[in-house]
Amino acid sequence: MTDAQAQTTIQELSQKVSYYNEQYYQAHSSEISDYEFDMLLNKLIDLEKQFPQFALPDSPTLRVGGGITKDFVTLTHKRPMLSLSNTYNETELKEFDERIKKLLGDVPYEYICELKFDGVAMSLIYENSLLTNAVTRGDGEQGDDVTTNIKTIRTIPLSIHHQALPQSFEVRGEVVMPHDSFDKINDEIAKENEQREKEGRKLLTFLANPRNATSGTVKMQDSSVVAKRNLMFYGYDFLVDNQVFASHEQSLLALKEAKFNISADYEKCKNIAEVIDFINRWETKRYDLPMDTDGIVVKINDYAQREILGFTSKSPRWAIAYKYKAENAATILASVTFQVGRTGAVTPVANLKPVKLAGTTVKRATLHNANEITRLDLHEGDTVFVQKAGEIIPQVMSVDLSKRPQGVFPIKFVENCPECHTKLIRKEGEVAFICPNEKGCPPQIKGKLEHFISRKAMNIDSLGEKTVETFFATGLVRSVADLYKIKKEDILKFDGFKETSANNILAGIEASKQKPFKNVLFGLGIRFIGETVAEKLTDFFKTIENLQKASLEELTTAPEIGEKIAQSLIEYFKDTDNLALIEDLKNAGLQFTAQNEDKPQLSNKLEGKTFVISGVFAHYERDALKDVIESHGGKVLSGVSGKLNYLLAGENAGGSKLEKAEKLGVQVISESHFLEMIG
Ligand code: IVH
Repeated sequence: MTDAQAQTTIQELSQKVSYYNEQYYQAHSSEISDYEFDMLLNKLIDLEKQFPQFALPDSPTLRVGGGITKDFVTLTHKRPMLSLSNTYNETELKEFDERIKKLLGDVPYEYICELKFDGVAMSLIYENSLLTNAVTRGDGEQGDDVTTNIKTIRTIPLSIHHQALPQSFEVRGEVVMPHDSFDKINDEIAKENEQREKEGRKLLTFLANPRNATSGTVKMQDSSVVAKRNLMFYGYDFLVDNQVFASHEQSLLALKEAKFNISADYEKCKNIAEVIDFINRWETKRYDLPMDTDGIVVKINDYAQREILGFTSKSPRWAIAYKYKAENAATILASVTFQVGRTGAVTPVANLKPVKLAGTTVKRATLHNANEITRLDLHEGDTVFVQKAGEIIPQVMSVDLSKRPQGVFPIKFVENCPECHTKLIRKEGEVAFICPNEKGCPPQIKGKLEHFISRKAMNIDSLGEKTVETFFATGLVRSVADLYKIKKEDILKFDGFKETSANNILAGIEASKQKPFKNVLFGLGIRFIGETVAEKLTDFFKTIENLQKASLEELTTAPEIGEKIAQSLIEYFKDTDNLALIEDLKNAGLQFTAQNEDKPQLSNKLEGKTFVISGVFAHYERDALKDVIESHGGKVLSGVSGKLNYLLAGENAGGSKLEKAEKLGVQVISESHFLEMIG
């Protein structure tokens, strides 16, 4: 094929495939069979590989993905991506309306009410009628360039063919994962895990909810995986240097004509009463939608009026988000069971008559602790209201006393451990009842094993939860030290384990011997020794011997080690069984000495400065942020005190931390401020 032929064929094929795509995804019809479509598409993919110079910038092959992004580039938004002020009640909504009325003077105005889609906000930049960048909201000032991934979303036009739209503009909207895609992915994870379980490989975690799933998906490295996840985009904002439309509604209509996906479920309202009516109508209707929504956005329609109203530092004065309260459901309490965790704490769990709640069926809810049962005055057969906290874990909120059956008894907290029947104890000042039989209570031992192999401890990902369960139940592994005594023959005796999986497991265990001392110390599961504390201790004491012989006073001289932690360590090392375990692990070859950890030192810009990190950040996971601070010479502390230099606050930063910082005059800084500090 000559160059010229290739170029024409690529153009023709691109046009055809785009046409069929559009027909299929927007008109839900098709003139050709799936097979014929795939043939056309594959031919185009092949040709583009051979003649990449002729691939069109809006080629439909971009929808299939394949492009890999290693590091997402940070881009600065041309116009900051603000958030909206929230309200949960009508009174505040009316106050919002009063403010508008006052600020606009006595003139008529209209609202547009839209659904508030629960996903990930995205800015789409079009230049010369082509989609050039898709950027996440990030901290509102800067976000990540996720263009390659976003181009796989079929409801986002890659190029614009519409007269009314200028050549360059920005569209903002929400990327969401529809329920059916979400369920499908979790089903696939379940299937994959069955296989992994058999092979003794690490299990995948399920997606928690569609919003988290969306935000994870847009940041995936492999765009072909993104393409398979069927994300959707709903446009809700049109921005341009010189606005061409007079109102929001006009923008929406033009975007729709230009093939953007614009929700049809918006309405124009003449006054706040109509807004409230819209809100009430959607309160339950929203559950019939194919994706999650968490409220209604109310916006002034007229752009000139929006300009008069302007912005506060955080949000526009011309819009507000009404958020629906978490959905409640009433159901019957069938029984309460008690679960024992790794630390011996006993948690009551309510078993419920299955009830539909915010799209899923709820059968169990947490009751937290004994005080909660008392607070609810929970009785057998009670009708209870359950609610999803953060839309994930259901909680029992209250009891409908009017429905209490006659003659029923109050729920009593167990006195003995439901697993090993040891009498429970409650330490002074603590709410949890504890089973003190630390060494003989099966779920506690199993919990300790699981903790030991977990990612942040020894990270033995070749061992899954079920495998540990099998090893424990059959007596092969009774303590973490036993893991290092397992032989291949031992594993092969179990059903479903083959040579490869056995080798895998053993290799994982072997590799864990190289994990640094801080991971080992954390993995031992000593009370109050979390990840950070373990690191502080190993940094300071260097060896397990030093740690073992330290007195209470010596322990508390280490940075951030208080009396409670010191006491817990003293108790742990007093126990001869624990000392024997440490000896066993030492003999197995685990690390009990801190190596001079070769963390790269990038600068000393933060030398002598201390930070507390709170909230969620756009550019870093929390662990990574800590590394960044340390690599510039700074220190990360866990609690706010007068001596602290900075509270680095991300989204949803802890209210009490913020308050304390303010009271003590500690400087609170944002992620972008921090990024400036390190340049
Ligand atoms: S308008 C100036 N409309 O809710 C803010 N936002 O806190 C303009 N959202 O970050 C946003 N559906 O991610 C708008 N129909 C809608 C929306 C919507 C969802 C999200 C968006 C934004 C957040 C507001």
